[in-house]
Amino acid sequence: MKATELLKTDHRNVIELIHQAKRVGRRNALLLNRIYDNYKVHTECELKVFYPEMKKLEREEIEKNIEEHREMDRLLDELMVIRIVKGKDAFMEDLIAFEQKIQEHFQDEEANLFPAAENQLLEKLDQLGDRIEDLKIDLRTGGYGMAA
Ligand SMILES: [Fe+2]
Ligand SMILES: [Fe+2]
Repeated sequence: MKATELLKTDHRNVIELIHQAKRVGRRNALLLNRIYDNYKVHTECELKVFYPEMKKLEREEIEKNIEEHREMDRLLDELMVIRIVKGKDAFMEDLIAFEQKIQEHFQDEEANLFPAAENQLLEKLDQLGDRIEDLKIDLRTGGYGMAA
C-alpha cells in the first residue's frame, strides 16, 4: 500500500481513539495506552521512513513537522504522567489540548505534505509503504505491543 494511505489510516485510528477517550470521559488506562502506542508507532514511521525521504524535497516543511512532533510528544508524555496525579477535569483539559495539536498537525500533513509526496515520489510510495509496514511489525513486537 502507498505510504501516504498507511499514514492516513494511522491518523484516523489515533483520532478515533482520542474521541473514544473523550466519550468515556474518565482516565481509562487501556485506552490511553492504545493512544500512546498508536501515536508512537505512527511517529516512528514518519521520522524513520517518510520524513527522511521527503526532507530531500520539502526541507523546511519537514523541519517544522519534526518540531511539532516534539511538542506533541511532550503533551502526550505529560498526559501519561498526569493521568494518575491530576483530577479528571485537568486530565480532560490536557487530552483536549493534545487532540487539538495533533488534529492540526494531521490536517496539515494531509493537505500539504501527502499531496506533495504523491506528486513527487510516485511509484516510490509503495516501496516506502512496505518499509513502513515492516517497521510497524518490529515496533509492535517490540515496545509498543498495545498498538494493534
Ligand atoms: Fe507527522
Ligand atoms: Fe502523520
